[in-house]
Amino acid sequence: MSCHRGALIVLEGVDKAGKTTQCKKLVAALQHSGRPAEVMRFPDRTTSIGLLINSYLQKDRELEDHAIHLLFSANRWELVPSMKKKIEQGVTVVVDRYAFSGAAFTSAKQGFCLDWCKTPDVGLPKPDLVMFLKVSPAEAALRGQFGEERYETSVFQKTVQQRFEQLMKDPSVNWKVIDASKQIQDVHEDIIGHSLSAITTAQSQPIGELWK
Ligand SMILES: Nc1ncnc2c1ncn2[C@@H]1O[C@H](COP(=O)(O)OP(=O)(O)OP(=O)(O)O)[C@@H](O)[C@H]1O
Ligand SMILES: [Mg+2]
Repeated sequence: MSCHRGALIVLEGVDKAGKTTQCKKLVAALQHSGRPAEVMRFPDRTTSIGLLINSYLQKDRELEDHAIHLLFSANRWELVPSMKKKIEQGVTVVVDRYAFSGAAFTSAKQGFCLDWCKTPDVGLPKPDLVMFLKVSPAEAALRGQFGEERYETSVFQKTVQQRFEQLMKDPSVNWKVIDASKQIQDVHEDIIGHSLSAITTAQSQPIGELWK
């Protein structure tokens, strides 16, 4: 077991930006080079809170907008102990969506401000690196039609993109914007470069607290 902690690396982006594809490739490449790495994804639909979120996203259930926002946050908090344990054991945790998606999606709804949306996630483990996979809505549309789930409309996704732009102005978070319109392998090479330097930097630093 390594004596250094692992890094917390987050991939964010609008629907179809390639987050899941790139999380898998990143973890595989890190493991291949002898660096312990694992994927986590949010929402994690396997917990009891996650099952509730899943039924909301699949439109089987209605939930009040503030209540569902807090459930998304609770779903991250409930996985903090296992996330921290992995990181402390030297495993780099690669996360498919995190608090930034939570804040961007709810604040894209009528009547929500970004600050209120960020509050329940204040103090979560702070990512050492957040990569925003940037694609234009037109490019994302070429990657397939929107599915049947809630939030999967181009008007809503455009507002979500604007909220991400606002979140990226925060210099307390180590944001990197990745041109995700390139070929999958080229995007991967950009991601691996940023990740290796984040892993090295994280080794000598404690895990931070998000938005604190
Ligand atoms: N750079 C790329 N160029 C072309 N197609 C891509 C690229 N990256 C991913 N894709 C394809 O686009 C589709 C969506 O990719 P993926 O599921 O990784 O996106 P996502 O960001 O995880 O989406 P979601 O937000 O819906 O979970 C997949 O069919 C994938 O193979
Ligand atoms: Mg995905």
